[in-house]
Amino acid sequence: MTGLKINLAKTSQFISDNEIALFESEIELHRTNIYNKTGAGNDFLGWVDLPSSITPDMLAQIEADAFKMQQQSELVVVCGIGGSYLGARAVIDALNSPFAALQTNQERKAPLVIYAGHQLDEDYMDHLLKLLDKKDYSVIVISKSGTTTEPAVAFRLLKSHLENKYGEAAAAKRIFAVTDASKGALKKLSTAKGYSTYVIPDDVGGRFSVLTPVGLLPIAVAGIDIAQLVAGAKTMEKFLREEDRYDHNPAALYAIARNILYRKGKTTEILASYTPSLNFVVEWWKQLYGESEGKDQKGIFPAGVSFTTDLHSMGQYIQDGLRNLFETVLTVENSARKVEIPNDPDDLDGLNFLAGKRIGEVNRMASLGTMIAHVDGEVPNLEVIIPKLDAYHLGELIYFFEMACALSGYILEVNPFDQPGVEAYKKNMFALLEKPGFEKETAEIRKRL
Ligand code: PA5
Repeated sequence: MTGLKINLAKTSQFISDNEIALFESEIELHRTNIYNKTGAGNDFLGWVDLPSSITPDMLAQIEADAFKMQQQSELVVVCGIGGSYLGARAVIDALNSPFAALQTNQERKAPLVIYAGHQLDEDYMDHLLKLLDKKDYSVIVISKSGTTTEPAVAFRLLKSHLENKYGEAAAAKRIFAVTDASKGALKKLSTAKGYSTYVIPDDVGGRFSVLTPVGLLPIAVAGIDIAQLVAGAKTMEKFLREEDRYDHNPAALYAIARNILYRKGKTTEILASYTPSLNFVVEWWKQLYGESEGKDQKGIFPAGVSFTTDLHSMGQYIQDGLRNLFETVLTVENSARKVEIPNDPDDLDGLNFLAGKRIGEVNRMASLGTMIAHVDGEVPNLEVIIPKLDAYHLGELIYFFEMACALSGYILEVNPFDQPGVEAYKKNMFALLEKPGFEKETAEIRKRL
């Protein structure tokens, strides 16, 4: 059994059991295609048995390198974009204090992990380099292709900053690269400079790579128990593989429900969480589903909200705007910490009716009340529930979303494992930047400016 549950009760006025049952044989077919590696994009199915194939030796190697970085660094800069950064950030933000940046390394028991190469903002980079002037730091540079512009530009600056600060040989000991086994500029550079290097398996795409060194190395540096993360994912891997009844398999149910809703015109899915530390899990999920499904002029648009904060901004639209929405609420059943609302003898704020209650209880009532209100407003609500926020249950959640995404993409009849659309902006950017080899495109795009 897994701790994760899916609750479809609040979709019952929009989806009938019959409609779900119609997917039984289709789910069986897609599961066969996934497990036998016979479906679309089958050369990118390495993530399917990834958790069970990670050995204690692999984890020990990652932990040893993480320890080296922890010893020599106040900060660790993770340089990557998309699938090469979102998974690590999702887990680190979920499990670290929201005030990690204000804690000392002793309080955190690990360096602070910060990010670069996930955008091209000049001011951000200037702030970062000035900060790094004053700090001891290491860099984890992550790029499967080894050629992505954003992390490549950031890494050039970080490498030169490190070399100026520590000298070339010592700088090389502070750089850890995660990239392809043989291809790409980052691989070439890492070999030439002698960086410690981890390989991203060929058959694991970026957005499915959080359980490879892409995610595990930064997560370990942040002091998080990667063995527990992998153990949770492994439990979910085994459970989903063995649970062949479509109506007991949470990944199948989630994939089916969202596709039925999509076919009924609910073309936007909002992933809502009442736990702000899950905001980057939502960002990771948006990439996983957006990049996997948004192609061939179809796909559910994945959006995210952080409640109750966004009930005071997006809440109006969700309750009352265009009715093309459904919501998936990501619920953490038990908070790890306890904060009770105190009694106030004066009760001038009128809040004594809450005295003695935990904030988590108020949050849960906000969630239940909102779900009912949104369902009344014609927004179907699904709920994905995890018992608590720890590495193990995040591992379960990550694998659950990955498997559901693959099934959902197959139901939608797209290849969930490619991303041809991402190339369009790159081609234009290179043309505008006059990259060698893009001369024709440069001439053409100039006319359009
Ligand atoms: O999921 C994907 O494949 C993408 O989001 C990539 O992770 C992203 O574009 C970064 O690519 P790379 O790791 O090659 O730098």
